[in-house]
Amino acid sequence: MFEKTELLPPDPILGLSKIFREDPRENKIDLGVGVFRTQAGITPIMAAVKEAQQIVVNSETTKAYTPADGAPGFADNILKLLLGEDSVAYREGYCSAVQTPGGCGALRLAGEMLARSEIGGLTVGSPTWANHIPLLSAAGISIHTIPYYDTAKSEINFDAFIEGVRKLGPKDVLLLHGCCHNPTGADLSEDQINQLIEIALERGFLPFIDTAYHGFAKGLEKDAWIVRQMVERLPEVLVSYSCSKNFGLYRERTGALIFKGKTAERTKALHSQAISIARGIYSMPPAHGGAIVNEILSSTELTAMWKQELEAMRSLVVDNRNQLVSVARSTSLGNRLDFIGDQHGMFSLLPISNETVEKLRVEQAVYAVGGGRINVCGVNESNINRLVDVLAAVIV
Ligand code: LMR
Repeated sequence: MFEKTELLPPDPILGLSKIFREDPRENKIDLGVGVFRTQAGITPIMAAVKEAQQIVVNSETTKAYTPADGAPGFADNILKLLLGEDSVAYREGYCSAVQTPGGCGALRLAGEMLARSEIGGLTVGSPTWANHIPLLSAAGISIHTIPYYDTAKSEINFDAFIEGVRKLGPKDVLLLHGCCHNPTGADLSEDQINQLIEIALERGFLPFIDTAYHGFAKGLEKDAWIVRQMVERLPEVLVSYSCSKNFGLYRERTGALIFKGKTAERTKALHSQAISIARGIYSMPPAHGGAIVNEILSSTELTAMWKQELEAMRSLVVDNRNQLVSVARSTSLGNRLDFIGDQHGMFSLLPISNETVEKLRVEQAVYAVGGGRINVCGVNESNINRLVDVLAAVIV
């Protein structure tokens, strides 16, 4: 059966973490996988999560199956968090959610639903997260790319992006990043999003918003703006949501797929399809992470605590960005890294080739992701000077 099965290379992001762990060099710097880290290099369990987890464990009376759409209460709480309790679409039943195994599970479930629809193709701006295209094309949909970011200029190439968007029609899906664009950190402005919505109304394509860093760009309310606007103004919207980063629940695989249908009846139909497709793949999502999130979002105290902790994480990421900019300014880099200070979330894309990325890893023990993506959470007081010197030698 498996005589011809080939050995595959490691995953470009997760595989890098393994190589990093095995690297014996003491001065190694991990700018790879997208996890939040403190200045001490730790990815902590949030206090609100610890407390909620204890409540879940203490009150759990059974390990019997959960409902097909996940831990009770989770999906509804995520809808309220993302759309706002006053959202008309939410109140009138135009939106629904199912819990999924992480954001990846949500993306894949959406891909499977789209593969069973009348989709022509899915379009995504380039570059995008290294797993988007493999994950979605594995669902059997065809993927097209249009330009999004000019790496040499370190800015969004909006003219080229919008030109690609204008060519989309009613059978097309446009994959967007909710906030904290991965891998560039460069988010569309509100004005640019408004333009996208106008074109979507005119051309009829379906926006699919991948939201994996809610709360990390400008805060929970502002980061939800793109989803809220699109849900309010467009007839159909898909959203994949991840609790990996904002609840720090990475390994608990906790996410959601959210859909807005043209009518409440269509939304019910979409919900039923999602559950049925999930049943054919993984039956139902793991309950633990969903139960923790539900516990937090159902409690005023835990929600306040969680929001405060998330805000502290967000401001640490902003500080790291500003530190990089300021240390770079004191070297031959001058203002070359200023763009990092204007971007959001964990990632920025350095204007370096894949050869240079490899050279940095082999010669300097500096781990960036292929394409030049760095996670600014890997920067701290003890490594920033060496890192900037190393970068000054490779960025012109
Ligand atoms: C990342 O982009 O580094 C994270 O989303 C982790 C992953 O699964 O790739």
